Amino acid sequence: MNYIHEIKYERHDHYDGLSSTEQQLVLSAQEAMHRAYAPYSKFKVGAALLLSDGSVVKGSNQENMAYPSGLCAERVALFHAGSNFPEKDVECIVITAEGSLLHPTGIVSPCGACRQVMLETQRRQAKPFRVVLVGQKGDVVAFNSAEDLLPLAFGS
Ligand code: THU
Repeated sequence: MNYIHEIKYERHDHYDGLSSTEQQLVLSAQEAMHRAYAPYSKFKVGAALLLSDGSVVKGSNQENMAYPSGLCAERVALFHAGSNFPEKDVECIVITAEGSLLHPTGIVSPCGACRQVMLETQRRQAKPFRVVLVGQKGDVVAFNSAEDLLPLAFGS
């Protein structure tokens, strides 16, 4: 038997095509990105979460001289939310990045470990959340569920 796995996603030339709430969240993710500590990779990533009470949690990648000790922006934000606001659902995560690891016209795409953590966050709250990826030129790829980024995930 052969199967086809289809994923629906949106593209926008600019984040001004998003809702005003998500546009604000893009600005928060950009702010977070500027606070990244990335002296080794020089690749700065910012993530901003919108929680169910309207509050925003920001995270940026935090590197360390002992390389594997560092953590991605997405997990910094998600683990902060999980540890400080476990009763609040995540409604949306916006991720953005800058640096030469990314083509100037490219869009950051979260690593596998962050996808796994996003998926488990979504499963814990039993409610899908939006994943919005913003490129260096402001263009957008958006998904309606963390599941769309990790088909056939561990634990499914
Ligand atoms: N990074 C993130 O913050 N998020 C990702 O999804 C991929 C990679 C960080 C980790 C490291 O600090 C730098 O980007 C280069 O890999």
